[in-house]
Amino acid sequence: MIDHILNTAEKLEPIARGKEISTLLAGKVLMLLFFEPSTRTRMSFETAMIRLGGSVMNLGSVEASSIAKGETLADTIRVVEGYADAIVLRHPKEGSARMASEFSSVPVINGGDGAGHHPTQTFLDLYTISRESHLEGAKIALAGDLKYGRTVHSLCYALSLYGAEITMVSPKELRMPAEIISDLKRLDIKVKQTDSIEEVIGDVDVLYVTRIQKERFPDPDEYHKVATSLQITPELLENARPQLKIMHPLPRINEIDPRVDYTPHACYYRQSFYGVPVRMALLSLVLGALE
Ligand code: CP
Repeated sequence: MIDHILNTAEKLEPIARGKEISTLLAGKVLMLLFFEPSTRTRMSFETAMIRLGGSVMNLGSVEASSIAKGETLADTIRVVEGYADAIVLRHPKEGSARMASEFSSVPVINGGDGAGHHPTQTFLDLYTISRESHLEGAKIALAGDLKYGRTVHSLCYALSLYGAEITMVSPKELRMPAEIISDLKRLDIKVKQTDSIEEVIGDVDVLYVTRIQKERFPDPDEYHKVATSLQITPELLENARPQLKIMHPLPRINEIDPRVDYTPHACYYRQSFYGVPVRMALLSLVLGALE
């Protein structure tokens, strides 16, 4: 199924780049319900829908909606399903998209549920790896906030389908949750854990960096202890493989030195563009416009 989404995205890429015009989703309406900030997920879903001739509606700010009067997520979903053909939900609670899907007769797409998962980001991450490096048997380091970073939670399960070798790089306070490590081991995936990026930089095809998720720390002092624990610099990259690709779901704060943007390793801006064809593929398949 993932391969089918990635292959479909590749076919739709000329439309995503504005080189071809499409009316594949004409008459369809997508509803965006974002209870947390977003630039890329929200706007790439909007762009994907518009490029395919569909329309987008938006809850707008939570404060300006009836949620501010105490309306529940379940009731909001029951109403919104009458207005749209599909819903994208971003919400601070883990499991919220799954719960919402139980109240909706139209598809609900998880646009990020708290520190849980971010599956559509994973599809675009896999697409990026396949375009910029190679997916099958890739040696990949996931670095940064692996505890609260939902993108890496979803990504490592998907990578397990492609025989990846995964090295988890983080301070001990931000390690990948133990249940995910156990799941990967059960799936026979080679997993290593370290707190030293220097140790692994020369040995990987892809370095996937994540932001320290300040908003998820219960105690601000705990955040400050680890806020600068990872920095990717051109000096560090002197020891990298020439073909190393550096990815980041963005936004970036301090974890990648801006000088890295000008190296051939950086591919995070192309990665954020790939969100458009991948989400076009997903919407076309979910809405039944493509098989
Ligand atoms: N990668 C990502 O989810 O970015 P946004 O939070 O800007 O949507």
